[in-house]
Amino acid sequence: MLPAVTATRYVIPLREGGSLPGLMEADDLGTYVVKWRAAGQGVRVLVAEVVCGELARALGLPVPALVTVDVAPELAVGEPDHEVQELLQRSAGRNLGLDYLPGALDFEAGADGVDGGLAGRVLWFDALVGNVDRSWRNPNMLFWHGRLQLIDHGAALTFHHHWPGAAAAVARPYDAASHALIECEPDVGAADSALAPQVTPELLRAVLSQVPDEWLDADEPPAVVRDRYLDQLTARLLARQAWLPGLIEAAAAGGAGRRRAPRGQNRPSWLGPPPPEGVTQR
Ligand SMILES: Nc1ncnc2c1ncn2[C@@H]1O[C@H](COP(=O)(O)OP(=O)(O)OP(=O)(O)O)[C@@H](O)[C@H]1O
Ligand SMILES: [Mg+2]
Repeated sequence: MLPAVTATRYVIPLREGGSLPGLMEADDLGTYVVKWRAAGQGVRVLVAEVVCGELARALGLPVPALVTVDVAPELAVGEPDHEVQELLQRSAGRNLGLDYLPGALDFEAGADGVDGGLAGRVLWFDALVGNVDRSWRNPNMLFWHGRLQLIDHGAALTFHHHWPGAAAAVARPYDAASHALIECEPDVGAADSALAPQVTPELLRAVLSQVPDEWLDADEPPAVVRDRYLDQLTARLLARQAWLPGLIEAAAAGGAGRRRAPRGQNRPSWLGPPPPEGVTQR
């Protein structure tokens, strides 16, 4: 199970996030970014956060520590925004907390510090879990103490929003063209050799056991629901011939220079010809 903490103080809503996560202090003296069980997309978003976050961590990818945060509705009284106050009140009980990384910098596309090995592993992982939320528009990665950190996996595992259609997601190609790391020369082949053998049923079971029962679909026993995730992710892994070659191709194309236009090409005509190579224009 994830460590469980109890919220002691509500600090502020993080308005950069569409789901209005909140910053909270807890009884272990930690500060957490709290994702609310009552937020728009529903509690499955929290399941995706735990499954993907803990799977990524197990594969050696950096993810802030995850906990469950017990929130009492009284903590909302100081929140002046009516919408946020209502969200907190409806979320009374067990929510998800990510260790707050103070001073973390937003990921900038093309940022230095992400080598092709790491970029390949992140890309491979995102393709496995179907994470559609790591584009250069919304990278959902932070730099903290000079190191990349992955956040916000709530939009992955889309199959669990409609289980009858889950089989169709098993071999679905992953669209990597606008992935935030596509221009970092991701070595997807090396990532596959290193990571695929690690994604065993035992590992997936250990990861799934971290999800609180009360967040799983209540129509079947929790063990049965966990097995559905296990089967789906295992099938996705085994169907790599359907999505891996396309991913390797996309990584080799590197986004086809879509964002990084050749030098001078985006220059408005009124600016005149570009300065010679090596000269910085002010
Ligand atoms: N652990 C953390 N430490 C520091 N800042 C964080 C952390 N987690 C999230 N943030 C900040 O809060 C913002 C919103 O977080 P996140 O992307 O998880 O929320 P969301 O509501 O799911 O967002 P989205 O709008 O992408 O759906 C991030 O972009 C980042 O700036
Ligand atoms: Mg986000």
